[in-house]
Amino acid sequence: MKDYRLVARISEAEIAEQVDRLAQEINRDHGGEPLLVIGILKGAWMFLADLTRRLAMPVEVDFVRLASYGLGSETSGEVRITKDLELPVRGRHVLVVEDIVDTGLTLEWYLRHLKHLDAASVKLCAFIDKYERREAEVPLDYVGIRVPEGFLVGYGLDFAEKHRNLGAIYEVEFLG
Ligand code: PRP
Repeated sequence: MKDYRLVARISEAEIAEQVDRLAQEINRDHGGEPLLVIGILKGAWMFLADLTRRLAMPVEVDFVRLASYGLGSETSGEVRITKDLELPVRGRHVLVVEDIVDTGLTLEWYLRHLKHLDAASVKLCAFIDKYERREAEVPLDYVGIRVPEGFLVGYGLDFAEKHRNLGAIYEVEFLG
């Protein structure tokens, strides 16, 4: 693997500020209605943990793991579920939580899938909206930070499974 270094992009303080803001917006929009929060593994786990701690309504948490077919790091748009929900969705108010939306193909596919499950409502929350490579216009209801591009790690995001545990967000800069 090529040498690389991590360049600081979004500090823990900035992350906390944005998570607070998002939680306030969600609390305001949903009143006291119970919410089923669906985290997309693996990346969303840290954001989901921070966000749900700040939610005021009764919350249930479940997870799905999605894998996209295709080569390398590019999303192909063909997705399969490798770990599915365990809680029922029908009639529930659902908040889907993602760490990052890039091309949008993963979330577009999952939204289509969710439509068959008859939720009362579905809203989308992504901590990072990386918009420059967007191919599918997914309707994001709540966005933490918008960035045009960059290979980001930390706060759940990985590079070859490393750096997910960092509390801040960094950009991978390849050397040489
Ligand atoms: C990342 C991220 C989204 C998806 C976004 O997951 O968590 O699910 O890619 O990409 P897209 O908008 O281009 O479809 P990844 O497949 O890297 O898995 P991970 O969360 O387990 O790291």
